[in-house]
Parts: sequence; C-alpha cells; structure tokens
Amino acid sequence: MTALVCTALGAVLLPAAAQAADPPLRDLAAAKGVYIGNAVAGGKLSGNTQYAALAGGQFNSLTPENAMKWGSVEPTRGSFNWAEADQIVAFAQAHNQQVRGHTLVWHSQNPSWLTNGGFGATELRGILQQHIATEVGRYQGKIYAWDVLNELFNEDGTYRSSPWYGTLGAGFVADSLTWAHQADPAAKLYINDYNVEGLGTKSDALYNLVRSLKAQGAPIDGVGFQAHFVLGQVPSTLQANLQRFADLGVDVAVTELDVRMQTPSTQAKLAQQATDYGTVVKACLAVTRCRGITGWDVSDADSWVPSVFSGYGAATLYDENYQPKPAVRTVATALGGTPGGGTASPSPSATATPSPTATPTPTATSTPPPGGAGCSAAYTVPNQWNTGFSGSVTVSCPAGASLSNWHLDWNFTAGQQLTQAWSAVCTQTGTHVSCANAAWNGAVGPGGSVTLGFNGTWSGSNPPPVVTLS
Ligand code: G3I
Repeated sequence: MTALVCTALGAVLLPAAAQAADPPLRDLAAAKGVYIGNAVAGGKLSGNTQYAALAGGQFNSLTPENAMKWGSVEPTRGSFNWAEADQIVAFAQAHNQQVRGHTLVWHSQNPSWLTNGGFGATELRGILQQHIATEVGRYQGKIYAWDVLNELFNEDGTYRSSPWYGTLGAGFVADSLTWAHQADPAAKLYINDYNVEGLGTKSDALYNLVRSLKAQGAPIDGVGFQAHFVLGQVPSTLQANLQRFADLGVDVAVTELDVRMQTPSTQAKLAQQATDYGTVVKACLAVTRCRGITGWDVSDADSWVPSVFSGYGAATLYDENYQPKPAVRTVATALGGTPGGGTASPSPSATATPSPTATPTPTATSTPPPGGAGCSAAYTVPNQWNTGFSGSVTVSCPAGASLSNWHLDWNFTAGQQLTQAWSAVCTQTGTHVSCANAAWNGAVGPGGSVTLGFNGTWSGSNPPPVVTLS
C-alpha cells in the first residue's frame, strides 16, 4: 500500500450552490417522515464521481433504472446476471439507503426468448413464478418495496396487451403479488403506472383493480405513481387522487418523477419546473400514506427523456453538469428547508460570498506524495450549514499507480463529529477518524478514483483536516 500525507491547502470555503445552505435532501425528507430517491445505473455509480456523490449524498432511496428488469437479469433463459443489481444494492447499503426494486412484471424490456417463446399458459405461468421467486428471493430482506407490476393499463383503462395478459388473463396480477409475497414477506408490494397521477379513466381502472385486489385479500401494499410530467401540467387532482388510493388501505408513492420541457431551458421554464416539483412534493406530504418521492434520473445528462421525446429534456433536479437547478430549492423548501437559502451561516472560514451559482470547491487538496508513489486523497466540504456539514474524500491514482485497499485517517481538531458515512467504513474515536474502503470499492486503478461521502456536525469552526492515505 502507498502511504502519503495530504495537507490542507488554502482552505477556501464555499458557500456553494443555492441549496447548499440546506442539509442534504435526504435529511430533510427523513425529518418529514418520507424518503427521497432517484433512479440509478450501476456503471455511473462506479464511473462518475459527481453522479455518485449526488446519488449517495442527496437521496436515501435508490431505484435501479434498468438493472432489475427481466431483460437485464435473465437475458438468456435460466442464465442470470445480477452484477449491476448487486452493485446498486451494495451501494445503497453502504450509503444507508433503501432500495425500490423495479420491476418484476412488465410488457417492456423483456428478453426475446421470453417474448418470442410462444409459451402456453402452463409453461408461461411457471416461468413467471420462477422469475419472481428467484429475483425477489435473491434480494430478500434488502428491498424496501417492489414494483411487482408495471404499466398494466392502456389509456382507456383496458388491460394493456402483453404476454402475461394475453396468455394468462388478469389472474397474473394477483398471482404475481402472491409469489412475490412468498419470496419476501416483509417487502412492500406495489403496482406502478404512468398517466394515473390525476383523476381520470386510467386512474379509475387502477383504482378499481386495487380495490378488487384488497377485497380478495391479495398482498398489495402500495401504488406507485410514476409522474413523468410535462412542464406546467402537474394534474390539479394529484393530491386528491393519491388520497383516494390511500383510503383503500394502501401506501402510495411518487416513483419516477421528472418534469420535461422543450429545450433549451430558460429561466422562466426552470422557475415553472421548480414550482411543479414543489407541488408534487407538497402533495405527497399532504397524504399521510405517501411514503416518498423518487426522481427519474439524477441529472439532465442522465435522463431518458431526450431520447424518447424529441425536442424535450432538462427534466431532472440537476443540470447536465450536475449542478442544482431551481427545483432543488423548491423540493428542499417543501421538505422543510429554508426558503431562499436562508438560515445557514456561512462557514467561519469562508472567504467567498454566498452565490447561487457558486461551484463547490475543495476545502483541502492533497500534495503530491513524497517519492511520487502516486495516489492521493482530497478532502472537500461543499455543503455546510448552521451546525452540520457534508463532505467527501476522493482517493485518486495517476496512470501507473493503483491501490488494492485504502485507509484514511484524520483528526477533527475543532470538535467536529462524524454522523454518517457512505462508500467507506468509518469510525470516530475522540477526534480521530478512521475510514477503510467498503467491500466493493477498495481497488483504485491507474487513473481511477473512488469517493467516500460523509455528514458531520460542527460548532465554532470547521477547519479541513490533514488526511493520511495508507
Ligand atoms: O445498455 C444498452 C446499450 O448497450 C446499447 O448500446 C444501447 C443502444 O440502444 O441500449 C442500451 O440499453 C438501453 C437502456 O435504457 C440503458 O440505457 C435501452 O436501449 C433503452 O431502451 C433503455 O431505456 C430505458 C427504458 O425504461 C426502457 O423502456 C430507460 O433507461 C429507463 O429510464 C426507462 O424507465 C422507464 C421505467 O422503467 C418505467 N416507467 C417509464 C420509464 C421511462 O421510460
């Protein structure tokens, strides 16, 4: 292992972007008794540090965007690939996040062996049961909620044609829930759909299905409202609709929220988008059984929207450079954060003036290692508020150097206290903080890096520590 000392350089502190005055969205949401999540891809969690920092730092629930779909996990009959799904679950565990499993039974993203198999009812039923038992069983105890069934209905409220409905009839719905329940009795089992967010024909069909499932004793625990909205078109009946489902005795959740606009974005469109996001969060909070809100894709650079809706995009909370958009502020405010960035005190060591567009800047960076062994660590605190802060340490290796495991030590000399860490196993004893890599991120290859994140408390001052990498 390579040992080196990373010294604090220049302690330039930053009141970062507009939302930086608030605690992370996940902390605000938790204080309100809901979760806030996002959809993620494994490759980006391991390959894009900005993406991973937002996914791990701002959200306390993750939904695999594609990794748990049938086509991803069983591309060939009987041959399973769990790599990306396992990675996302491990990331979530390391970040103290829950996972929404998505999705077991859908008409889309199925492997061709399944869609073109021409299976009869008995065989298809067996295939479906086996798939659900295998996937739910694998993650038993690790998934908070499953989108067991996805997008069952056409816009007119009739059942969508699919291999399941066409061959098995509507009974596959209750059967799927039952098989999922057998495989993980503690997981919350959802039906998930889009264009059902407001009152209307399709929503009525879903409502009637859920009512009938409850009446027959099927294990249905929740309804997911995807919420892929168009700018300025959040249904006015959203809250009332969520409430009527909740009144059936099920949980509800906003599961795939985004608000697309014609691109390019303008300040006016972003302001409307901020209003729309805030409206959705407030509607959820107003319904006791609304458990949380999940966004669909971390940033505009990751969004599925432009590839499907030509001329539309800019649908997520963070822009293509992973900087917060105005909607982050309205979400934070709806979750009890301070309007306008308000109460947060600038850091005692701050040298910059708060700016809504300021970019987070390292509070400490590493010096080149003596002897040029190569790898280094950089400690940053991009977010700090009255008594709390969140930060990260990035371990990087240049071309030609690598680590198989890493360990970080530092002393919080001003009484700071670590409250939470992710992507590492950290302990604090007195002033001394010791962090070791998580099981999945010990290896740092040539030219590679890994980032751990943490939250902490401070008072008086919050100087960046000297970090030792070994
Ligand atoms: O991974 C392959 C890549 O190897 C290949 O080169 C490329 C070429 O097309 O395709 C890549 O796979 C794509 C995959 O996303 C990963 O990026 C698929 O083509 C593409 O169809 C797939 O799109 C996903 C879509 O579901 C599939 O219908 C989107 O990422 C995902 O955001 C979207 O999510 C759905 C929810 O599951 C259900 N509700 C609607 C929501 C948005 O459509």
